[in-house]
Amino acid sequence: MTSKLLKISKILDNSKSLVFSSCSSRSKTDSRKSSSSSSSSSGNRTLHKSASSVIPDSELQGIGKLSAQILEKDEKYGAHNYHPLPVALSRGKGVFVWDVDGRRYYDFLSAYSAVNQGHCHPRIVHALQEQAASLTLTSRAFYNNWLGVYSEFVTKLFGYDRVLPMNTGVEGGETATKLARKWAYNVKKIPKNQAKHVFAEGNFWGRTLAAVSSSTDPTCYEGFGPYVPGFINVPYNDIKALDEATRDPLVCSFMVEPIQGESGVVVPDEGYLTMVREVCTKNNVLFIADEVQTGLARTGRHYILRLCVDHENVRPDMVILGKALAGGVYPVSAVLADSEIMLQIKPGEHGSTFGGNPLACRVAIEALKVIEEESLAENAEKMGKIFRTELKKLPKEVVKTVRGKGLLNAIVVDERYNAWELCLRFRDLGLLAKPTHDDKIRFAPPLVINEPQIYEAVDIIARAVYSLK
Ligand SMILES: Cc1ncc(COP(=O)(O)O)c(C=O)c1O
Repeated sequence: MTSKLLKISKILDNSKSLVFSSCSSRSKTDSRKSSSSSSSSSGNRTLHKSASSVIPDSELQGIGKLSAQILEKDEKYGAHNYHPLPVALSRGKGVFVWDVDGRRYYDFLSAYSAVNQGHCHPRIVHALQEQAASLTLTSRAFYNNWLGVYSEFVTKLFGYDRVLPMNTGVEGGETATKLARKWAYNVKKIPKNQAKHVFAEGNFWGRTLAAVSSSTDPTCYEGFGPYVPGFINVPYNDIKALDEATRDPLVCSFMVEPIQGESGVVVPDEGYLTMVREVCTKNNVLFIADEVQTGLARTGRHYILRLCVDHENVRPDMVILGKALAGGVYPVSAVLADSEIMLQIKPGEHGSTFGGNPLACRVAIEALKVIEEESLAENAEKMGKIFRTELKKLPKEVVKTVRGKGLLNAIVVDERYNAWELCLRFRDLGLLAKPTHDDKIRFAPPLVINEPQIYEAVDIIARAVYSLK
């Protein structure tokens, strides 16, 4: 071996204890139960800090030794484009995740609603493993034996003529926007290169240049200009503003989340989506529903009604799906539309090396079947109601607002208290959630959560809230 190779293998050997710690943690009991169940604040545990640590003490408080080492590696060698809650996870099952030190947590984020079916769902993992051993990627240069099967399944399930497969949610948004432009020029006859798109204020659909160009959040767009021209923002939940903006004959689409997730689970007034449909139809503008976070049973309801727009029985012109479309084991996204829109894009005009690959298709079929066969929408509806009812009993002086639908919920924390600190206390008591936009905390557990687990989670949240007072 050359000295460079030897050096690399030594680095990897040193890291093995971190990477494989999940195996040993299987036999461990939940270390929190014995060591820290009485600890409501994070200050009374040993601080695991190396001499060369680049992490502030405040981030290391309350976490185990292996977790501290992982945080340090990430911070030292990774880009700083995230600020994760200080906890390092190595295993997941259903509604639970375990950290590298063997502590168990309720996952109340579900990877931003990507793990609706629960962590490592055996059916989805089995589909992934079986397909990975057979054929993973062909590119769209050739047909593969799963894309057609998946396309028929997903389009019939959601009632659209066609699907365009992509990988991430933001690619879904880009695809829908490009489809809208083709439709604008070919069908609506908007003069070449003059199409405009309307987006709601407070939207979030990812991090590409188009997505940040539509954003009204300075953390998303500041420093990334110049922006895509022709993007217009209107206030969310404001039909009059939408009507005014879409009367412009150059406007071809309105993209909107049925509930704004990243903005802090902002639920529009009842009837808003119905009126969006009416206004878009009246002004000959395509209604694009971004259901990447809200779709696939997350917001509840019942059999057949698994999108958030289904709460108002509304049919958008395009629906964007992602995240839970593959149960969190693989990136899969999709745009659904009828032929009049979808066939405006011709061969060679749009695509992706990985979009529609057999592994993705196989996993997505299984992930969708699990949602249907395990009645996850019904469960989200039922558990969500219990969850909100219980959270509304918390002291208003800390928890100002409780809102949401199904199992996509959030609390707004009073300005006298700190949402980040509250999340650290949740963590210390065995539940993971993260603030969004300072004072809001989103709660989105896997949809397989049951009633005793919901009550236990509420108990953890309540204990943390009372410990702040
Ligand atoms: C509503 C919505 N759309 C799109 C996206 C982007 O998805 P991805 O991160 O997979 O690109 C997100 C991500 O959080 C989202 O919440």
